[in-house]
Amino acid sequence: MIIRKKLIAGNWKMNKTPADGVALVTELVAALGKQTDVDVVVCPPFTGLESAAKALDGSTIKLGAQNMHFEASGAFTGEVSAPMLRAIFATHVILGHSERRTLFGEQDAFINKKVIAALKNQLRPILCVGETLAEREAGTTLKVVQTQVEAGLEGVSKEQAATVVIAYEPVWAIGTGKVATTDQAQEVHAYIRGLLVKLFGDAVAQKVRILYGGSMKPANAPELLSQKDIDGGLIGGASLEARSFTDLVKSAAAVK
Ligand code: 13P
Repeated sequence: MIIRKKLIAGNWKMNKTPADGVALVTELVAALGKQTDVDVVVCPPFTGLESAAKALDGSTIKLGAQNMHFEASGAFTGEVSAPMLRAIFATHVILGHSERRTLFGEQDAFINKKVIAALKNQLRPILCVGETLAEREAGTTLKVVQTQVEAGLEGVSKEQAATVVIAYEPVWAIGTGKVATTDQAQEVHAYIRGLLVKLFGDAVAQKVRILYGGSMKPANAPELLSQKDIDGGLIGGASLEARSFTDLVKSAAAVK
């Protein structure tokens, strides 16, 4: 059996100036910068990436962006590309977050182009999927997730797929304080794993980390993280403060 290393990623969203970000990262490096039990990634807004990279230098904590464009360069006002992110030492990029999907109209085919571009540039995509409350109530959760996973990963090779991270984030649980029950989350995570088996085969599917996101906090993390197919968390609110983020990483490290 493959033991997947847990991954805790902090999505800061549109929060923190570069100076605030450096202050947080400095605290995180002091608390977690040498540990290797859990993979840790922080995802500041674009303006804070470079200064965060410097503050993370020499630590085991990795840097991620929250979005990118799929072209390498060109007339795309307001956008940032994969080579630009690589140049400032980002290793991960969140793609298809539900806030990008709902507030900025990003659709599966568009997100898929970004996934392909990220992989081509050796950035690990953290592909976000998840249903809205209306979709859950209509009983279409698994269908919605299936479409998002299949369309998001179209054209990805088996070899590349093993490096992808998927984040299951039920939209109704994001920033609401409403967390999915462990059974609800595990059900969808297992379903995603099954989809990955069909798409890429069992060996690859067993390597892919599937994170849970949506009001994950130190109090609810141990139970969620002990589920068979929950390999970590994509953390919003609780990643903005060193204490809660550090506690989440410790929870992940404590899961056997
Ligand atoms: P919260 O942890 O604030 O609910 O946000 C989750 C999220 O959207 C992470 O990407």
